[in-house]
Amino acid sequence: EQTKTPYDIIGEAKLTELIHAFYTRVGNHPKLKSIFPEDLTETARKQKQFLTQYLGGPQHYTEEHGHPMLRARHIPHEITPSRAEAWLNCMDAAMDETGLEGELRDALYYRLSLTAKHMVNTPEYDE
Ligand code: HEM
Repeated sequence: EQTKTPYDIIGEAKLTELIHAFYTRVGNHPKLKSIFPEDLTETARKQKQFLTQYLGGPQHYTEEHGHPMLRARHIPHEITPSRAEAWLNCMDAAMDETGLEGELRDALYYRLSLTAKHMVNTPEYDE
């Protein structure tokens, strides 16, 4: 008997929906849009690869880009505590919009909240 991964339970279609809903919010967020590219197609493609493996699915991110080293890859971007909070708020709303519920949602959100805090690399400043 094979154990289902969180990726199997969410499924590719729902993950795609979640990422789309998430970047629509990021691209419109006053605290986030200035640090992201105008066209989020490629960002969303990489994030889908990353979250696929984060959830236990195929290792597409690592195959194409190497070890994620996420904190290092975020160093060029000024990630303040309030941007981390904004990122998580976009994710929370995207989860609602996509109808992600229950333990799986709570576990994913909790893990993402830890990863997001780990990405903070810049003290708060007024914009
Ligand atoms: C890339 C911001 C948290 C995963 C990026 C980029 C920005 C950014 C500006 C570059 C986009 C581009 O040029 O295409 C933020 C902010 C965060 C945050 C403000 C708030 C804490 C996270 C978290 C994850 C994550 C929690 C993991 C779930 C990624 C990935 C990429 C990326 C996989 C693409 C890296 C690559 O170029 O290969 N992020 N990020 N980020 N972020 Fe984040």
